[in-house]
Formats: sequence, structure tokens, C-alpha cells
Amino acid sequence: MQSTAAYQLVKLANGTHSVHSLAHRETFHPVIGPVAEAEALYVKQLRLPERMAGHSGEFIIWDVGLGAAANVLTVLRSTRDAHCPLRIISFDHTMEPLEFALQNAAALGYFTDYEPAVETFIRDHRATFTDASRSVNWELHLGDFPTLLTSSTAHSLPAPHAILFDAFSPAKNPAMWTQPLFANLFRLLDPARPCALPTYSRSTMLRVSLLLAGFFVGAGHATGEKEETTIAANTLDLISEPLDKKWLQRAHKSTSAEPMWDPLYRQSPLSSDTWEKLQQHPQFK
Ligand SMILES: C[S@@+](CC[C@H](N)C(=O)[O-])C[C@H]1O[C@@H](n2cnc3c(N)ncnc32)[C@H](O)[C@@H]1O
Repeated sequence: MQSTAAYQLVKLANGTHSVHSLAHRETFHPVIGPVAEAEALYVKQLRLPERMAGHSGEFIIWDVGLGAAANVLTVLRSTRDAHCPLRIISFDHTMEPLEFALQNAAALGYFTDYEPAVETFIRDHRATFTDASRSVNWELHLGDFPTLLTSSTAHSLPAPHAILFDAFSPAKNPAMWTQPLFANLFRLLDPARPCALPTYSRSTMLRVSLLLAGFFVGAGHATGEKEETTIAANTLDLISEPLDKKWLQRAHKSTSAEPMWDPLYRQSPLSSDTWEKLQQHPQFK
């Protein structure tokens, strides 16, 4: 087992490796490993190769929780045949997991062909390169993501076509799962640009937060790690299994459905105000 003070490399039951954060006591992709999870949750579910193949102009991805860059590098590798220019905007408040992962590139496996780009990215916080026949522009915004969303910098960023949302779990990383965070994120989308955001959690609290923020929300694909995940989008067209009224009734009875309004983890049933607002959401009309 390789380790620094903050991160360890762990071998999963299926033989693949993943990065473990000692501070959060969480493994980044704990069951099926980083590449299989990124493929199931983001590449296949968002149909990224097909969407990019039919896309003209720049395709823009926001990568929330860059971590060890498994999501970014898996997306790059799986969409290589696309011709449209790709811009990836990564967000994290630390580069340490990526630096650690690069030192363990051989065991992790997913850095192959991209090591020079990652080295440049770590040094300059951006990397521009040609990948097969398309140009890739990858940039980093280093800092607290919830704070960044409220800054003028966030408003100057191009609105995304897809968001990879991969923070630590709500109990360990509540600041990344508050309702105000998702409301601020939704405001930065372009209503004329269809955008979807899959994430690994299927919790009622998360889904209510996304709905109240303005997203349409559906059940997301199984990943092999989770039997169901969540996908949110600014248009129903990008959601194959929208949450329905049965889900709404279950949420009404749930003991953990009220969004976190502050970055403090707690579980509580819906407030009457939230319940009123939920019922007014266009998805349930
Ligand atoms: C599960 S890891 C991400 C794994 C990554 N997507 C990958 O493919 O390797 C979660 C990441 O979220 C970042 N994070 C947590 N809280 C944050 C915050 N408040 N602002 C910015 N990044 C944050 C952590 O530093 C960590 O790298």
C-alpha cells in the first residue's frame, strides 16, 4: 500500500486500485474502481460519445471535485473519436490527490497517454493539447467550490453541457451538498443549453435540493456500485426516468428529505414550506 500523510492507494476486491483520503476516511471510488464508475455514471449515462459526435462548437464539461482526475481522464479516453473541441473546467480546493495519483499512475492505470497533459495541468493549472483529432482545453479553478459559485469568476465561465458532480459523501462533506449550492449552480446554467448532472447519491435529501434549485430530476443508472443514482438536468429531455408522484409521496413520508440549508449534516423530514414548493415543481404538474 502506497501512502503519503493524506492519501493512500487501496486495492479493491476486483483488483483495481483507487485513492483513499485519510482526512475524510473515504475511498474515491470504493467498489468498482475509478474507471468503471466514471464510465457508468457519466460516459454512458450522459451518452457523451454520441452527444459530442453530433455537436458543433465547443463542448463544455464542468468537473466538480477533480480529485485524482479519474472522471476527467476516463471522459477524455472514451470520447477521443469526437471532433468537436472539448473544454473541461475542473474545480477542487486541493491538487494533492492528483499529485498523489500521478505518482501512482502505474497502479491506477487510467493516466496512460495523458501523463504529459496532467503534468502540465498540475504545474500551470491548465493544459491545452490535441487528443486524437480534437483540441482539448482543460483548466482548474482552485478554491472552495461553494464560495466560487457566488463570485464574479463563476459568472464569467462558459455554461456547461454536462456536469460531473463528485464530492465526498454528504455526511462527510456537507458544504458540497447544500440546497443553496445547487441553487447557485442552476443559476449559472444557460436555459438554452441542455445540461445534465449525474451524481452517485440517490438520497431523497439530495433530490429535493436539486428540485428546489430548479432542476428536473430522475433516477440515474446503476453503476455496479449503487443500484440507483441520480441525474438532474435543466430539461426533461435529458432524463429518461423522471421522479414521479409516487416518489413525491415517499419523500413526504421520509425521515430524511429536508435539504441542508447550511453546511451542517443532519437528517429531518420535509418542512411544510418545502413540501408546498415541491408540489408546485413543473415535473409533478
Ligand atoms: C470523491 S473526491 C473526487 C474524485 C474525483 N472526481 C476523481 O475522479 O478522482 C471529492 C473531491 O471533492 C473535493 N472537495 C471537497 N470539498 C470541496 C470544496 N468545498 N471545494 C472544492 N472541492 C472540494 C475534494 O478535495 C476531493 O478531491
